[in-house]
Amino acid sequence: MIRYTTSLEEIRPEMLTGFFVGWPNPPSSETHLRILRNSSHVVLAVDDAAGRVVGFVTALSDGILSAYIPMLEVLPDYKGQGVGTELIRRMMTHLKSLYMVDTVCDPELRSFYEQCGMRAATAMIVRNYDRQAG
Ligand SMILES: CC(C)(COP(=O)(O)OP(=O)(O)OC[C@H]1O[C@@H](n2cnc3c(N)ncnc32)[C@H](O)[C@@H]1OP(=O)(O)O)[C@@H](O)C(=O)NCCC(=O)NCCS
Repeated sequence: MIRYTTSLEEIRPEMLTGFFVGWPNPPSSETHLRILRNSSHVVLAVDDAAGRVVGFVTALSDGILSAYIPMLEVLPDYKGQGVGTELIRRMMTHLKSLYMVDTVCDPELRSFYEQCGMRAATAMIVRNYDRQAG
């Protein structure tokens, strides 16, 4: 059974393994936990029986008008069970008082985010790949 939480109190780096699939130079679990702590909003999906976090979403917000969702990931074994949709739904609830909520995604994820109530726009980005591990 998956439990959703916004609390990081009980989360240890060992519970954050397996994320950043396909990243050539992924952040460590310790850095992942720092990313979660430094985010203005976070929602985690936790499998207590397995003792691990199985999905997470973060948001960075000015708390007045805008928020950006930089990261959403569900562990491969837990994909296709609605966890990603539930993480976004819960995050959107936390951000619902804001004017704008943005994210950037690959084209194949457009339908996923549309199902979550978002619409497509044009994004401009910079990526410093030598900083990918944090
Ligand atoms: C994107 C992601 C978070 C979705 O999580 P999930 O728990 O598998 O999603 P859900 O089970 O809630 O799927 C909801 C719907 O989105 C679709 N969907 C999910 N992932 C998809 C993908 N990668 N491409 C296309 N459609 C996808 C599902 O088919 C499902 O559609 P349905 O309701 O018609 O069956 C997950 O695939 C993931 O972690 N991907 C790698 C990281 C990533 O791309 N993150 C997003 C960064 S912008």
